[in-house]
Amino acid sequence: MKGIILAGGKGTRLYPMTKVVSKQLLPIYDKPLIYYPLSVLLLASIKDVLVITTPEDIGLYKQLLGNGDSIGINLTYKVQAKPRGLAEAFILGEEFIGDDDVCLILGDNIFYGQDLTKILGNAIKNNKGATIFGYPVNKPSDFGVVEIDNDNKIISIEEKPKEPKSNFAVPGLYIYDNSVIEIAKNVIPSARGELEITSINNEYLNRKKLDIVLLGRGMAWLDTGTPTGLLNASQYVEAVQNRQGFYISCLEEIAWRRGFINTLELKKIGESLKMTDYGQYILSLVKE
Ligand code: G1P
Repeated sequence: MKGIILAGGKGTRLYPMTKVVSKQLLPIYDKPLIYYPLSVLLLASIKDVLVITTPEDIGLYKQLLGNGDSIGINLTYKVQAKPRGLAEAFILGEEFIGDDDVCLILGDNIFYGQDLTKILGNAIKNNKGATIFGYPVNKPSDFGVVEIDNDNKIISIEEKPKEPKSNFAVPGLYIYDNSVIEIAKNVIPSARGELEITSINNEYLNRKKLDIVLLGRGMAWLDTGTPTGLLNASQYVEAVQNRQGFYISCLEEIAWRRGFINTLELKKIGESLKMTDYGQYILSLVKE
């Protein structure tokens, strides 16, 4: 299983904050936003990750995350020249994906919850074509919306419908088999001129190969689409971290717990960051 993080777009809805800084590099409390989706892929034991971003921002992402060596993963990068839609990720990523299945996560999506690792592992194991997730929200019209029947079978998916048929939004986390590449190549651009991920999901639905996993109220899927959303996400991370003493999306911790790096390697990273709480947290793990 390969992983793709899509960190493109101009972030115009967050101007002037994102006028010169890519949205997914903005801080959510104590770490850049992209750490959160990357941590989800690590929790799913995905070690080969492609980061897709804009020509202007690619250098910054490389500077921030490097080739992944330090946390025992392989990171590669690809430019999306224009924001042509989420589905383009699979066309740009064709060579990277090769013959594998792929998990796409959007660079601005934050997930946190007790059973996340188990839920992801099961979804990947049981995937028979494509698997999406469903999450109840107050204002579904801002998202892809999925309608399901009593047996949790998908009836329809619509992209940002004016009159949503349910309150289940589709979060930016998707699992696909290898046919997603061919499906992406045949997607017709939507009215807004983008290759929509919803079109891909609808094609899987037509082929009767689309499953859904519903995320319950114990899971946090946080919105980072507005200044208030960003602030609330920061406050959430701060509250949980300072209450429990466990960090959310500390990449080095996850890599260490998953066995991607050993304790000595973890210690080295901790030492290099020891002037920060983040570094002190890593050093406290070494003592465990
Ligand atoms: C995209 C997808 C939408 C999905 C959302 C999740 O919307 O098109 O289906 O629900 O991500 O974050 P965007 O945020 O690009 O408007």
